[in-house]
Amino acid sequence: MEKKSLEREKFSTGLAVFFATLSSTVGLGNIWKFPYLTGKYGGGAFLLVYFIFILLVAIPVMVSELYIGRKTRKNPIGAIYSIKPKGPWKLIGYMGILSAFFILFFYSSVAGWIYSYIFKGLSGVFSNSSFKDLDNIFHQTVSAPIYPIIWQFVSILVVSSILLLGVKNGIERMTKLLMPLLLILIVICDIRSLTLPGAMKGLTFIFKIDFSSITKEVILMALGLSFFKLSLGMGTIITYGSYFTSDNNMMATAGRVALSDTIVSLLAGIAIFPAVFSFGMAPQQGPGLLFKTIPLVFSKVPFGGVLIVLFFLLSAIAATTAMLSMLEVVVTYFVEEKKMSRRKSLLICSSIVLIIGVLVSMSQNGSNPISKIKPFGLNLFDLFDQASSNVLLPLGGLLIALFAGYIVNKKDIETELSNNGKLKNHALIKIYIFLVRYITPILLLIIFLSMLGVWG
Ligand code: TRP
Repeated sequence: MEKKSLEREKFSTGLAVFFATLSSTVGLGNIWKFPYLTGKYGGGAFLLVYFIFILLVAIPVMVSELYIGRKTRKNPIGAIYSIKPKGPWKLIGYMGILSAFFILFFYSSVAGWIYSYIFKGLSGVFSNSSFKDLDNIFHQTVSAPIYPIIWQFVSILVVSSILLLGVKNGIERMTKLLMPLLLILIVICDIRSLTLPGAMKGLTFIFKIDFSSITKEVILMALGLSFFKLSLGMGTIITYGSYFTSDNNMMATAGRVALSDTIVSLLAGIAIFPAVFSFGMAPQQGPGLLFKTIPLVFSKVPFGGVLIVLFFLLSAIAATTAMLSMLEVVVTYFVEEKKMSRRKSLLICSSIVLIIGVLVSMSQNGSNPISKIKPFGLNLFDLFDQASSNVLLPLGGLLIALFAGYIVNKKDIETELSNNGKLKNHALIKIYIFLVRYITPILLLIIFLSMLGVWG
């Protein structure tokens, strides 16, 4: 258990809270995963399902996590334990630690690709490259024997150094400035992409809903993405909640974060799909989609070379702050619950991420024996991705919703979410309690049962 004397730092203002939380949710999920899954799973219909999950599942889980964190001011495992020491609830924390590791294994690999693209941009390889060239460049980046591993190592080193030097809060303050810059760059990208010949086909692709393309797989992927996107189901948001000021309107913050994050994702989609169609590419490129389109979008634009470098630089920063929020959870766990020194905990956690992460990177190289390891037919990269997004996070979310809906005292939730009655948000709290008791868990259960083949 955590000692009472352990001082937890708090964010200073409402705006600091908002940006810090956003620095965890905005990351590779927005610019890399969201567009490539939207492309792969059919565009508009996938998005519709995704939005429904954000409203009915993700936001209620986010409010629950913020509540648990701010109420107890502890790390996820300590927090759950201090509300309810008995029962299966501790699992939430342990599963969270596992999902943080699983995500970091592949996230650090993709962050490495992004880092390397900054330097590729600087070297000028993208100037005048065709789609075919970009396809080759991406293929080499991902499947060369040593290159991706070095960049993955760099990304882990950067994140660990920030945590070691204790400058995490400083970095997050800095992102308050950089995030708007990333947004501006994405908007420039949007404008360019939308003015390409045939751009409308891209917009039609993202916004036209073809109900027949909604399959079980589409539903599961959209659900997993909604958790992954908003950093839910593993305790990150519990940890952030524990730093929130007592006068923060948590429901409003959750709503604003979800909305802003969704806007960034959509704008990234609008930057990518018109270009995809204009250049005659298939939207089902998979994980390479971002890397093959952005350099094309910026080619033949004044200062295009500079814009490409800036784009990948800001994306690398967004990826880094999102990774910080994951590594922080596991490092703090060992410090607060296992009484390990911060240094030791950091060394152990980042070594685990590095060792398994390297295997995950190697699984992308077809000629490497590691790529032949395919449990459930998935290579290690896809395995850790799907096991975390589609299983562990939603399962964590289900437990969190049940915990908030049925274990926690209802009066206490009302008091906490209304800041002791100071906020006049009674109706909203009622809606939240209804969702978290009846809608969120039931939807999640139905999906799990249908995945297991028990239902539908
Ligand atoms: N949300 C981040 C992104 O979109 C990734 C992330 C950070 C995350 N912390 C998390 C995902 C915790 C799940 C859980 O890139």
